[in-house]
Amino acid sequence: MDPVSKETVLQQFHDTYGYPATGVWAAPGRVNLIGEHTDYNNGLCLPVALEQRTLVAAALRSDRTVRVHSRQSDETYSGSVGDIAAGWAAYPTAVVWSLAREGLPLEGIDLAVDSSVPVGAGLSSSAALTCSVALAVNDLHGSPFSRDQLVKMCIRAENEGVGAPTGGMDQTIALFARPSTALLLDCQDGSTEPIPFDLHNAGFELIVIDTRVKHSLADGQYGLRRSQCVDAAQALGVDSLREATVDQAESLSDPILRARARHVVAEIARTRQAAELLRNSRFSDVGTLFDNSHASLCDDFEVSCEELDVAVAAARRGGAIGARMTGGGFGGSAIALVPVGRGAEVTASVGREFAARGWRAPHFLTAVAGGSATRL
Ligand code: GLA
Repeated sequence: MDPVSKETVLQQFHDTYGYPATGVWAAPGRVNLIGEHTDYNNGLCLPVALEQRTLVAAALRSDRTVRVHSRQSDETYSGSVGDIAAGWAAYPTAVVWSLAREGLPLEGIDLAVDSSVPVGAGLSSSAALTCSVALAVNDLHGSPFSRDQLVKMCIRAENEGVGAPTGGMDQTIALFARPSTALLLDCQDGSTEPIPFDLHNAGFELIVIDTRVKHSLADGQYGLRRSQCVDAAQALGVDSLREATVDQAESLSDPILRARARHVVAEIARTRQAAELLRNSRFSDVGTLFDNSHASLCDDFEVSCEELDVAVAAARRGGAIGARMTGGGFGGSAIALVPVGRGAEVTASVGREFAARGWRAPHFLTAVAGGSATRL
């Protein structure tokens, strides 16, 4: 397949619908450096946008019809404004539904979608899709909504329209990322702080290890973790685990709720520390926080899996100075912080361990902190 570009998606639009698109919009996938399962606890997280992104070519229609073509599935969905499709087209159609619900006078739209964000790898291909479509629809109507509002509408599209639980980190980074920068998100007040993340100049690279597995229990477990966090906060008499202290978490009598709360409280503290270390270019110390975060997600939050644990351990043995799972867990991707020049050893080490277990070869990519969703 040709690489994803403005030209290819314009051609795809023309081939599908027989007329030219009005424009092309793009939104990035992401990796989260640290602060996992904290966003829905009003906590802190520290994602970076990837250079991999989803492109959407779009043009308005006036007959209440919504059509979406995807190059990945080579299918065209067709329905009416307000309908939510099944399968992959649920995401773009739920965005149309969500913006229309807020009063956008949308009379129909044709969309052609292509993406270089690996799907199902825990790199937020869904937020890349919802945010690129939201920006396109908004721009084509003269941009009545701010990016803050679009974040909320994309979250609602995924939560209520698609029925996919998500906390808000992915949509925020897709719409607010900056190149060579990580974003410290405070999910309590919605504020964001850019944190310098010029890895290469500091002598490091960030390798993403896509395990290429997604365990089927993932979705139910995500919802269960959310409700356990709500229960823990309730038992402590606080609005969210953001307000809990280590001592409070340790005082919970239910061992499961205690472990969940311990992870969230410690992970928020680690995220604050990581941001401070990055502000001072102390990349090597960030590695230790990655390791501690992974151990906590594995033991206390119980969202890791064998493939992620093997990837993380093998990356460390291959020379990474820290590694952890990233995203929701139960498969998907891990990240490894690696001194420049050691990347080949790290990927070889992970590849060997996967091969020795008879697992599919993992995919690797180097994360380069890219910019936010934009019109091309
Ligand atoms: C998924 C969700 C995010 C976040 C992470 C865990 O990626 O979409 O909102 O909760 O899991 O940190």
